[in-house]
Amino acid sequence: MHQKAFSPILLRGLELKNRFIKTATYEGMNRDGIPDERLFELHASMAANDVALTTVAYGAVNEDGLTHENQMVIDESATPYLKKLADLVHDKGGKISIQLTHCGYFTRSTRYQSRKPLGPSRTLNKYGLMKGRPYSKAMTTEDIRQTINDFAEAALLSKNAGFDAVEIHMGHGYLLSQFLSPAINKRNDKYGGSLENRIRFSQEIVDAVRNAVGDDYPILCKLNLEDGFNNAFTLKDCIDTVNMLKGHGVDAVILSGGFTSLTPFYLMRGEVPLKEMVESEPNYLQKTALRFFGRFIIKKYEFSENFFLPLAEQIRKSTDMPLVYVGGVISAQGVEEVMDAGFDMIAIGRALIAEADFIRKIKNDLNYRSPCDQCNICVGYLEKTGMKCVL
Ligand SMILES: Cc1cc2nc3c(=O)[nH]c(=O)nc-3n(C[C@H](O)[C@H](O)[C@H](O)COP(=O)(O)O)c2cc1C
Repeated sequence: MHQKAFSPILLRGLELKNRFIKTATYEGMNRDGIPDERLFELHASMAANDVALTTVAYGAVNEDGLTHENQMVIDESATPYLKKLADLVHDKGGKISIQLTHCGYFTRSTRYQSRKPLGPSRTLNKYGLMKGRPYSKAMTTEDIRQTINDFAEAALLSKNAGFDAVEIHMGHGYLLSQFLSPAINKRNDKYGGSLENRIRFSQEIVDAVRNAVGDDYPILCKLNLEDGFNNAFTLKDCIDTVNMLKGHGVDAVILSGGFTSLTPFYLMRGEVPLKEMVESEPNYLQKTALRFFGRFIIKKYEFSENFFLPLAEQIRKSTDMPLVYVGGVISAQGVEEVMDAGFDMIAIGRALIAEADFIRKIKNDLNYRSPCDQCNICVGYLEKTGMKCVL
């Protein structure tokens, strides 16, 4: 196996024992914001199986940022759970990060501070139609200022609870990605229009988080290579954004793509688990709409191993920012290919959902291939059973 993949790396002051990150995959293991034992077991098992850095998914920075009411809001009430997660992972010799997130306009949560979902502009929220929240409002500068504070406070709280790093979610069509994307951001103030303006919100969040956590603490960002549809965030925008993040002291960027509310399977590829999504949908009208129109609305994208590599390599060639590759890593040879392309770290989702010991298996067998067949039922049943692999 590639020497580099199993060599340590320094992320600011943080030493990771190898280059593997369990990427954020919303676990669906909380009820009304309170995690159950499965969440603790999952992250402990990642650390026990040689994942250098495991990422807890969906830490909403405030109630407006929840997509579902069951997700965790990172405020004082979360501290005992965060401490327990950090202690368990450290006991097993691993490191732990949390993805700090705000969903922006596409919430379906019934827990919120602002009656209307928040976004860069007024946008139809098809997920909120049945929840009485059909349109987002364009955020005011006061909303923006408050959200910046909430990111900073959530980061500090996570650090104080023992987390080793934070990851700011700027991709996948979540709030910051909505601001970055000209398809959604129609503002004509200093937060809209040119890329320089569309980046501003993310930049102010990075600065506020750095100010809160201090100089010696790693900050990662997850960013789109591209949104996956026309007139949106492009690869060229990605290069400029990565350079901005570098200038603002971000320690590594995880390169992904897609827009959850518009091109949800662009970021995963493979099957669309429509039957399971229909079964899991709690709202009757939404369930019916999904059953009859789902296959026309939700586009399928073919899976291929390391599917983002051709795009990600273009970013690799244009910056010396530490980069994390994510997307379709399912084999030992795929890992070699990513390392050869010059990436610093590799983040993995489904292969680790299928097998917690995937890293050990590829270390011992250069021909090892994950049994994951991208059926994506782990996504389809997320809200119903929590994240698990059906294989
Ligand atoms: C069940 C599931 C839940 C996910 N939830 C998140 C999430 O909360 N945040 C995020 O950034 N990406 C999420 N993703 C996307 C993954 O982080 C990753 O980008 C994608 O699955 C591609 O990596 P893979 O091919 O190694 O699975 C999720 C993916 C899956 C399969």
